Amino acid sequence: MCGIVGYIGYREAYPIVIKGLKRLEYRGYDSAGVMLYDGDNIKLSKTKGKVVDLEAKAANEISTNGTIGIGHTRWATHGVPNDVNSHPHVSNSGDLVIIHNGIIENYAPLKIELIKRGYVFHSDTDTEVLVNLIEEVQKKENLKLGKAVQVALNQVFGAYAIAVFDRKNPDEIVVARLGSPLAIGIGEGEYFIASDASPFIEYTSNAVYLEDGEMANIRLHKPMKVRKIKDDSLVDPYIQELQMNLEQIEKGGYDHFMLKEIYEQPSVITDTYRGRLHANEGIIQMSGVEDNLEKFLNAERIIIVACGTSWHAGLVAEYIFEEFTRIPVEVEYASEFRYRNPIINRKDVVIAISQSGETADTMAAIKLAKEKGAFVYGVCNVVGSSISRETHAGSHTHAGPEIGVASTKAFTTQITVLIMMALRLAKAKGTLSKTDFHRYLQELEIIPEKVKEALETDAKAKEIAAIFKNTQNCLYLGRGYNFPVALEGALKLKEISYIHAEGYPAAEMKHGPIALIDEHMPVIVIAPKQGHYDKIVSNIQEIKSRSGIIIAVVTKGDTQVRGLADYIIEIPETSDALSPLITTIPLQLLSYHIAVMRGCNVDQPRNLAKSVTVE
Ligand code: F6R
Repeated sequence: MCGIVGYIGYREAYPIVIKGLKRLEYRGYDSAGVMLYDGDNIKLSKTKGKVVDLEAKAANEISTNGTIGIGHTRWATHGVPNDVNSHPHVSNSGDLVIIHNGIIENYAPLKIELIKRGYVFHSDTDTEVLVNLIEEVQKKENLKLGKAVQVALNQVFGAYAIAVFDRKNPDEIVVARLGSPLAIGIGEGEYFIASDASPFIEYTSNAVYLEDGEMANIRLHKPMKVRKIKDDSLVDPYIQELQMNLEQIEKGGYDHFMLKEIYEQPSVITDTYRGRLHANEGIIQMSGVEDNLEKFLNAERIIIVACGTSWHAGLVAEYIFEEFTRIPVEVEYASEFRYRNPIINRKDVVIAISQSGETADTMAAIKLAKEKGAFVYGVCNVVGSSISRETHAGSHTHAGPEIGVASTKAFTTQITVLIMMALRLAKAKGTLSKTDFHRYLQELEIIPEKVKEALETDAKAKEIAAIFKNTQNCLYLGRGYNFPVALEGALKLKEISYIHAEGYPAAEMKHGPIALIDEHMPVIVIAPKQGHYDKIVSNIQEIKSRSGIIIAVVTKGDTQVRGLADYIIEIPETSDALSPLITTIPLQLLSYHIAVMRGCNVDQPRNLAKSVTVE
């Protein structure tokens, strides 16, 4: 995790680095730091806390002029969040300065070796070891910075995106990546470095995303040189035109990114199916699926790998794919899959789902599946991300940047892509009747309207939030397609409001969780008219008989659950398979309002980061 930013050019670097760090805070926000070079001096300021704390400290500590700068926002791995462990880290001579996103796994033996050679360490970080290793290599072999970085990186294991500055050669920044993302923005007489392109989109739309195992020497007024870290071979960098715009990464009048992203769902679901769904013609066209249709049609099994919210979208997809295509589906936590020697066959299709496209466990699961000969399909949001490049083929979700740490629009757009894939395959396999196929296409086309209608539950969600904001526990129940929605609702609540919440299949309640029910326990039941309505009504009765408090998400016009529940939230009707796109909306809003009322930092919940690039 962690976000890195750098600038080398003719403008003042400090405002670019600070603004960039703010945009990257989703990647970590427990400490931050900046280094500036003004032609004579290295100026360093770093602190525990957020980028605003850094700004306050830097204003008193350093003069902020200089046209070269690097900055870091941290999610601690080695060493607690404090001023000393914050990046940038400086080598013992004071000449080399580094920022690093990732983990150097063999830092301990390297540190012992360096200590034997007289190096002194001030922090507990692996990064301080790396910068001193580079210095040691540089001194011993009398190398320029780029070469020294390369030799040092060939001695380390782990993951990194780094930027290194050398006072002795101050018109250059050397960057490298393995396992952590790194984008380089190319302007006229200036370069930008960042973990993603958001820090520099207002300056340039040309970017190079370094591939794993590549490094670049970025020099003022010189073309950038990219080479392979391992064998020094030169690489012709691919300059990509960025699709992001500034508006997408700003709050646009909302109090929080999370709320903005919840409200964006009608439009981003439309973006997701635009050009792919042609309801009137009865066509679904997704180039990734089309180009690999035989692989999908011959699949004996689909294995879905993902983490967190993306895993919940995978669970929804399991129900959809099995019902629509009759292909057996397994859904795996990427972190478990990668370590349990899973059985993977050449006829398996693996679908990896990831908003960021950078999640380390999902990436490792993909590599494992590829090694074992499976065809791997990515469903990612971030274009150019590591996962979208590592997979054989894939479909982007087109949700636009998701900045709130809690995933919202990523979930619904992932489900949209997965539904379209299942429908396309069902058509090819003939496993859905023509009537059902056309009905789903028509329904999917009007889903954004229904999501818009579901957003009208906002006031009701707020009212209920005010009543339950101080609860300590919460149970979420759903059946069938809405069981994963129950899990997702519970995850949203716990991660942003720190209230303990559990999601369960409603019928499983009587095998244990029912013991938790008493007059203090709010139970959120997802009970739309389609699906297993009668069964869920029975579950509601079981809870009522034990004095539980029922908050029910029901279809507009419902009377039966209305008579039983303490609070109801009404949503528009849709078919069972598409209902997660609707039922999830009031649950997102409920969590959001509870977290705001509890004074929690909604967009940056404690201990979390948006992009989990460590195991
Ligand atoms: C929850 C959340 C996380 C992510 C998980 C996977 O709101 O955001 O659980 O879903 O870390 O991230 P991606 O989808 O980027 O692979």
